[in-house]
Amino acid sequence: MPNKIITIAGGTGNLGGRIIRELLKKEVEVRVLVRSGSNQEKIAELEQLGAKIFTVDMNSEQEIAEVCKGASCVVSALAGLEDVVIEAQKVLLDAAILAGVPRFIPSDYSLDFTKFKDGENRNLDLRRQFHKYLDAQPIAATSIFNFTFMDMLTNEIPMIIFKKKWVLYWGNADHKISFTTIEDTATYTANVAVDDSSPRYLRITGDQISPKEIREVLNDLTGEKFRLIRTGGLGLLSALIKITRLFSPAKDELYPAWQGMQYMRNMMDERADLKTTDNDRYPGMEWTKVEDVLAQYLQENPIS
Ligand SMILES: NC(=O)c1ccc[n+]([C@@H]2O[C@H](COP(=O)([O-])OP(=O)(O)OC[C@H]3O[C@@H](n4cnc5c(N)ncnc54)[C@H](OP(=O)(O)O)[C@@H]3O)[C@@H](O)[C@H]2O)c1
Repeated sequence: MPNKIITIAGGTGNLGGRIIRELLKKEVEVRVLVRSGSNQEKIAELEQLGAKIFTVDMNSEQEIAEVCKGASCVVSALAGLEDVVIEAQKVLLDAAILAGVPRFIPSDYSLDFTKFKDGENRNLDLRRQFHKYLDAQPIAATSIFNFTFMDMLTNEIPMIIFKKKWVLYWGNADHKISFTTIEDTATYTANVAVDDSSPRYLRITGDQISPKEIREVLNDLTGEKFRLIRTGGLGLLSALIKITRLFSPAKDELYPAWQGMQYMRNMMDERADLKTTDNDRYPGMEWTKVEDVLAQYLQENPIS
């Protein structure tokens, strides 16, 4: 008999699906809020794993509240722009409060945006805006700051050019960037979801590593010599963000080119430094290192 109920939104997504898998390893009932248009294959997979699926109108506080009744925490793993981060999350949060749920985990899963100002990163501004609403509500909340998803280092992040054996960086080659895998973030989030005394903010990182150290790891793994190339300073990056945004605004896209550049600027900013972490809050967590991710990638994609 499960001793807790956790309701989750965004369970058909990449991170959300993994959080559900981790929750199902615990003694909890997992209720997943989905839309009528959500991916049916993913829903069937989650159902087969043991999650309980509830198809709701995500604009209806009442419908969502019904699914939240009896839950000890509502987890959001939604992804999107203002209509999702602010509007859909507000409905979800209000529904959780209406149902008497004591705790909420917003879909933050980012670098620590409490250290940055509005205007520096559009997607993080939206989260900060949602927090103003969240922090005024009668519900406890925990934000998880996992910094950059480590998995993106081998594809989305324009940093390692394997074919050319280049490591590109902006700013300081010794600046340590914090990375956590999506899987480790999900495992940690599942722990937070069942932890009734989690604080407002938790900061985790699987690895902290500088561009210079990434080059050393690549050299060791491949036996080759990777070149470290400084693409410019953070001032130049800021200028390029402005120009790119002007000529290619793509306002409706979640990750237009300039948005990726804003993340890069934040990653290389010393305000993203992490002096202490909450990694040890839950026993049994094993943190994947950048070296592990690169070794796996190179095994599957040898460079010569
Ligand atoms: N730190 C990092 O480096 C990093 C990188 C990437 C993502 N993230 C963050 O991780 C979190 C999860 O992202 P993800 O990549 O797992 O997202 P994803 O795979 O794109 O999944 C998004 C989920 O949100 C749901 N959704 C979107 N709009 C919705 C709406 N209006 N109403 C209800 N559900 C809606 C989708 O449901 P449907 O199936 O119904 O569409 C889906 O389940 C986000 O906070 C994202 O910003 C962090």
